[in-house]
Amino acid sequence: MQTIRLPGRATATAWRDAARGCLAQGLQPEEVVWAYGGAAPDLFAPDMGVGSAAATTVVPRSFIRLAGAVVWHRDPERFAWLYTLLWRVKDRPALMDDQADPLLARLRAMQKAVYRCQHKMKAFVRFREIGAPDAERRSFAAWFEPAHYTLEPTAPFFASRFGDMDWRIVTPDLTATFEDGALGFADGQSKPPLPEDAAEELWATYFRNIFNPSRLKVKAMQTGMPKSYWRNMPETRQISDMIAGAEGRAQAMRAAAPTAPPARAARLQNRRAGLDRTSSEEQDVDNLNTIDAVHSAARSCTRCPLYRNATQVVMGEGPTDAELMLVGEQPGDQEDLAGRPFVGPAGQILDRVCHAAGIDRSTVYVTNAVKHFKFLPRGKRRLHQKPDAGEIVPCRWWLDLEMRLVQPRLIVALGATAAESLTGTGKGILRRRGAIEHTEAGTPVFLTIHPSYLLRLPDAATKAAETDSFRRDLEAAAAHLQELRAGRPNVGQRCS
Ligand code: URA
Repeated sequence: MQTIRLPGRATATAWRDAARGCLAQGLQPEEVVWAYGGAAPDLFAPDMGVGSAAATTVVPRSFIRLAGAVVWHRDPERFAWLYTLLWRVKDRPALMDDQADPLLARLRAMQKAVYRCQHKMKAFVRFREIGAPDAERRSFAAWFEPAHYTLEPTAPFFASRFGDMDWRIVTPDLTATFEDGALGFADGQSKPPLPEDAAEELWATYFRNIFNPSRLKVKAMQTGMPKSYWRNMPETRQISDMIAGAEGRAQAMRAAAPTAPPARAARLQNRRAGLDRTSSEEQDVDNLNTIDAVHSAARSCTRCPLYRNATQVVMGEGPTDAELMLVGEQPGDQEDLAGRPFVGPAGQILDRVCHAAGIDRSTVYVTNAVKHFKFLPRGKRRLHQKPDAGEIVPCRWWLDLEMRLVQPRLIVALGATAAESLTGTGKGILRRRGAIEHTEAGTPVFLTIHPSYLLRLPDAATKAAETDSFRRDLEAAAAHLQELRAGRPNVGQRCS
């Protein structure tokens, strides 16, 4: 029996090295006891044949990603379960695609919980200014109580987002510090005294402004912003009062509504006439259990302001049992008029390149991250505008429903907007191109460029070369799909 005690910092690397060492020694899962943090190791073997294991064991990339998240979960059994899965996966890589395997399902749920916790941390950390206001670099601190050990893997996000200031995020498990551009970690602490500052009032005002009493859904609000986070978020102090006053304010809003609707509202009403009126976006998700129901509900979508000027919503099309889903940015001018995705110039390129890559569009579900056309009117023309998070995030609702119903084996994200919607960030798409990442629900996402990028290239030679790279990307995606279908998830390198 070997006991391996993993450190409370750099845990992911330590677990990976130790697991490789155990594999190299042929240690069965029952022969290893995993411990975490605390006192000196009973037995920690940093030289457990890492090299030889690495050379002989090929691990599916999806396992590496799973382990990279699960090690930050708070469950004390996480390392043992991961090692058990690793032990089985080394002989049967296809296990990573076995939806029925209970251990894999448990670990995937833990991966999801960690991702959710990271997401909450990004959204709910509230910094307070602690340095002198005239200091060369401003200095901030925040207290946060994450559900899992997610400060270390999330700290690089804050370092890139708040790179021009010094900051400290204190949690009970770990403290992250960012000083003069260097990220470091120290032990966890208890809650430090943090001054209230101007940001408190800013958050409170912002929250009051985005709060719409007529759309209050207390349960949904608490799912998005669980109560356990409230105590460290200044804006939440006013929630009980706002809930208490919501009905009165909604009544006042109704009473003050104009009696004669503006022309735009009349146009919308006409457009909606004849549609299935029970399908509103607020309809219980359980009722949206066919693609037709989802498409019908989306016609009355008002989740972001884009519905106001677009001709119509443009939902996806293709077989509802498609194994491959292509996700673009948003409908363009022609798609907005036709009500179908990818029928304009970018769609024509997409069709041609798909064909060249051996992908038959009629077998693919093609859709967009944003379902309404965003444009700037210029005389008779409508100039395409890139959607931002205010449109991408609310529209994820529809894309999620499409993904839930189609259940593709593989999604291809065409360009930065699709990548942002599906993976949480659209940054560095050219660097990430050809890689496979995952949605929050664990569906593999192959990243590539958007075909309209090819339309914008000025000279023919570059265009030909880039079109060829795009074709190779789609071929790689098709090959990956084939592997998934055959139960052989890709291993090792990037696909491109
Ligand atoms: N560009 C997209 O991203 N989607 C379309 O449907 C058309 C152009």
